[in-house]
Amino acid sequence: MTGLCNGRVVVVTGAGRGLGRAHALAFAAEGARVVVNDLGVGLDGTGGGTGPAQRVVDEITAAGGEAVAHGGDIATTDGAASLVATALDAFGRLDTLVNNAGFLRDRMLVNLDEDDWDAVMRVHLKGHFLPLKHAAAHWRAEAKAGREPVARVINTSSGAGLLGSVGQGNYAAAKAGIVGLTLVASAEMGRYGVQVNAIAPAARTRMTEQTFAETMAAPGGAAFDAMAPENVSPLVVWLGSAASAGVTGRVFEAEAGRITVMEGWRPGPSADKGGRWTPTEAGETTRKLLAVSEPPYPVYGTH
Ligand SMILES: NC(=O)c1ccc[n+]([C@@H]2O[C@H](COP(=O)([O-])OP(=O)(O)OC[C@H]3O[C@@H](n4cnc5c(N)ncnc54)[C@H](O)[C@@H]3O)[C@@H](O)[C@H]2O)c1
Repeated sequence: MTGLCNGRVVVVTGAGRGLGRAHALAFAAEGARVVVNDLGVGLDGTGGGTGPAQRVVDEITAAGGEAVAHGGDIATTDGAASLVATALDAFGRLDTLVNNAGFLRDRMLVNLDEDDWDAVMRVHLKGHFLPLKHAAAHWRAEAKAGREPVARVINTSSGAGLLGSVGQGNYAAAKAGIVGLTLVASAEMGRYGVQVNAIAPAARTRMTEQTFAETMAAPGGAAFDAMAPENVSPLVVWLGSAASAGVTGRVFEAEAGRITVMEGWRPGPSADKGGRWTPTEAGETTRKLLAVSEPPYPVYGTH
């Protein structure tokens, strides 16, 4: 099999279902050998089993590709270290890490239990940090040994993390944290040949099946299931390939047939007194600055 990712070894976390599954199949279709990670948990992160990961491995091998399953919890040191070790043991290298695993525990803030906060922060934020850390250690060692990696990391944020989302305080905070982690990782790892970007996807999976139920017809009459997770994967595959050279520290929204470069926080109107404001002065000045500033985008769930 030849393609954009021929010869590359790609790890996808949470690849037993939904977006991760679509990414794993799309990478394999472009010639990558894939480590399919999934803990097989329920929508709220409870339960577990190796079934979903193995089913995706079976799909890839049935299509003529190469893949192995990894059933570890990516939010633990053991799970993240063994994920990287699985790629090296099975295929002898690691080129691309797609951090994608996660789950939801949606509640309004006043009803959000500490456990639901911790579980969601853990799976998304720590579940990105630990695989990234272990992959980065491998790539740094490769670079120091004179084998400059052409390594890629694609992290998974969310519109909730970029704009906020009512009823998702834990999830939005974790997904915003993933953007910060992406920026730092991109800046720290560039010298070792590692590019790090993030996507904010939207697709119909078990996580969102009530939000995205419809099927759209594409121009020309061909059926185009706009919210299919497979529509997000082409950007992820390109970002995960050598072809994306020079693209790092960016956040992209990907949904249906649309790719959007998200433009992040940057200084807007500003005033400098050259000394300390009184609170009243600070307030008056701030109101003037707000009057000439761009209003923020609405938070999801408020419009
Ligand atoms: N579907 C969307 O519209 C949408 C929008 C924004 C962001 N996202 C993000 O995309 C990613 C994929 O979501 P999805 O919609 O495909 O959901 P999904 O529930 O279909 O898939 C997530 C997978 O992650 C696995 N998983 C959960 N915890 C894990 C752990 N600790 N270790 C290993 N695997 C684990 C689950 O078993 C599941 O198979 C998530 O990070 C989600 O927050 C999705």
